[in-house]
Amino acid sequence: MNDVLPDQIGAWQHLEQLARRLFCAYGYEELRLPVVEHTELFKRSIGEFTDIVEKEMYTFQDVGGDSLTLRPEATAGVARAVISNGLLRGARHKLWCSGPMFRHERPQAGRYRQFHQIDVEALGFPGPDVDIELIALTARLWRELGLTRVRLMLNSLGTPAARAGYRERLVDYFRAHEDKLDEDSRRRLAGNPLRILDSKNPHMRALIDAAPLLTDYLDAESRAHFEALCAALEGLGIPYTVNPRLVRGLDYYSRTVFEWVSDALGSQDAVCSGGRYDGLIAQLGAESTPAIGFAMGMERCVALMQAAGSVPAASSPELYIVASGALAEREAARLAEQLRDVLPGRAVLTNLGGGNFKTQFRRADRSGARLALILGEEELARGVAGVKPLRREGGQSECPLPLLAERIGQLLEQEPLGAAARDELGRG
Ligand code: HAM
Repeated sequence: MNDVLPDQIGAWQHLEQLARRLFCAYGYEELRLPVVEHTELFKRSIGEFTDIVEKEMYTFQDVGGDSLTLRPEATAGVARAVISNGLLRGARHKLWCSGPMFRHERPQAGRYRQFHQIDVEALGFPGPDVDIELIALTARLWRELGLTRVRLMLNSLGTPAARAGYRERLVDYFRAHEDKLDEDSRRRLAGNPLRILDSKNPHMRALIDAAPLLTDYLDAESRAHFEALCAALEGLGIPYTVNPRLVRGLDYYSRTVFEWVSDALGSQDAVCSGGRYDGLIAQLGAESTPAIGFAMGMERCVALMQAAGSVPAASSPELYIVASGALAEREAARLAEQLRDVLPGRAVLTNLGGGNFKTQFRRADRSGARLALILGEEELARGVAGVKPLRREGGQSECPLPLLAERIGQLLEQEPLGAAARDELGRG
């Protein structure tokens, strides 16, 4: 579990702002959900025999005796929320949410026990048009984030009936080679044999490569759905690779599944994954509603932004007000409020904690501000403030206090930007 400190927050905020803008552009609405749900919800949706439910959930009993779990993912909660708030009734919803998720996994680079997802879900759309929209949205996000080392992997899991037929074939195949299975796979053979295909064990590679392919067992409708998706992606110029071994680690999927992976992420290479879950809502007891969604791992996204050097520099303040004496400090606080009125969204700092002019100027310089305003008793007596550029050589000028708020905007136009802002513009 990580602390995200101020020196990293720029990347997070950039990602969040961009994602928010894109969701708006595609017509997705935000919802905010609890981080705990009844344990049963995750068991029923993610599946009893998945790694998440078997080994990774943070489950506890609350004082009322209920079994609760810190959410390991967001889809189950979104499904629960639309059902329990009566939002379905034939309506369609395009939703997104974000926040921390919890999985007690073996820690390794890129895999955390508290991590953050941006999660997007479209409910009530049978597709494949919405499958295409979601993939186009993610492709646009990578583009706008400046990420080029991401590749799209696609597969179709078909309907549950088609998958059941395939599952039987697969179990027969692996049973015939049980001596070659590792312990994990032997365990999965009974509960979740498709997950054996996901094994990273190099000793099982050859066995898995020779296993029957799900693609050969797809039902006609799922095949048509998948072909329409692939054709549309080609039309949009979004490259993809069909990976018949892509099965996903959660049980609720049907038909389209996809993962965006990157070779810049090490062994935990998926930055964004999702797929259709046409059966989940009905399985949770509500009216049958087709659905699809994905979640991206924010830590992995931020790591990719850092690797690509596409993290915008932190913005520096515009003004730092230096003040000496009780009267001047009061005036500085008043002026700062006035300036924040006329410079919305730009940082105006006052010197907190006193200190002589030398100390205050050192702080002003370190803050990265472009201009210092100087309020001494002598300036106050004359009704002016000193104005000094901090990012270039140049002397101090004066401005009458009543004109200051009006003139400061013009002054800033003429001043060179702080280093951070300059980098930012250069990139733009
Ligand atoms: P997931 O593949 O389990 O899918 O997780 C989605 C993304 O979350 C992964 O691609 C990865 O980037 C990130 N992630 C997962 N576990 C960790 C971890 N331990 N540390 C860091 N990042 C992690 C789901 O969660 C589905 N609910 C996605 C979905 C939404 N399917 C349909 N709708």
